[in-house]
Amino acid sequence: MKTPRELKVKPIKNGTVIDHIKANKALSVLKILGLPNEATAVTIAMNVQSSLMGSKDIVKIEGRELAPREVDKIALIAPKATINIIRDYEIVGKGKVQLRDEINGILNCLNPNCITNTGEPVETKFYVIVKEPVILRCYYCERIMDADEIESQL
Ligand SMILES: Nc1ncnc2c1ncn2[C@@H]1O[C@H](COP(=O)(O)OP(=O)(O)OP(=O)(O)O)[C@@H](O)[C@H]1O
Ligand SMILES: [Mg+2]
Ligand SMILES: [Zn+2]
Repeated sequence: MKTPRELKVKPIKNGTVIDHIKANKALSVLKILGLPNEATAVTIAMNVQSSLMGSKDIVKIEGRELAPREVDKIALIAPKATINIIRDYEIVGKGKVQLRDEINGILNCLNPNCITNTGEPVETKFYVIVKEPVILRCYYCERIMDADEIESQL
């Protein structure tokens, strides 16, 4: 039986479409972006079919572009996400989030005795030891941080 090619998101005029979000992570992505708020139109698709990923989430946000720090946070929970910038209904920019080898200054170490938690002026620094789901190790105290601990901080 033939199935129609669905349009999974309705067009937006200006804003951002975050595609290829790991299934069920759309709400975590919104939380990172401080959404929903009263002023921003947001459309969410969750657990939709993807030839690339099996299933995925999509978030489209009217009238909003993303800051680099927000993109870095999204990479921690949705490492395959693509960011499409829409202007006047056209895609004018397409990028991928990128999970770096080191995560600096975004997360707190959960070891209370870590030098980053004792009042020293030391920025946090973690090495990525597993990429998906992401697992980090603190550069200073070697405490391991798992994906749930990471997500709860974003
Ligand atoms: N004006 C728009 N408003 C809302 N969503 C849009 C708009 N233009 C494109 N999109 C969405 O942005 C995403 C990327 O669009 P594109 O046409 O590049 O799809 P694609 O060819 O499947 O790209 P990719 O290889 O990144 O999957 C899709 O989810 C598409 O539905
Ligand atoms: Mg596609
Ligand atoms: Zn530490």
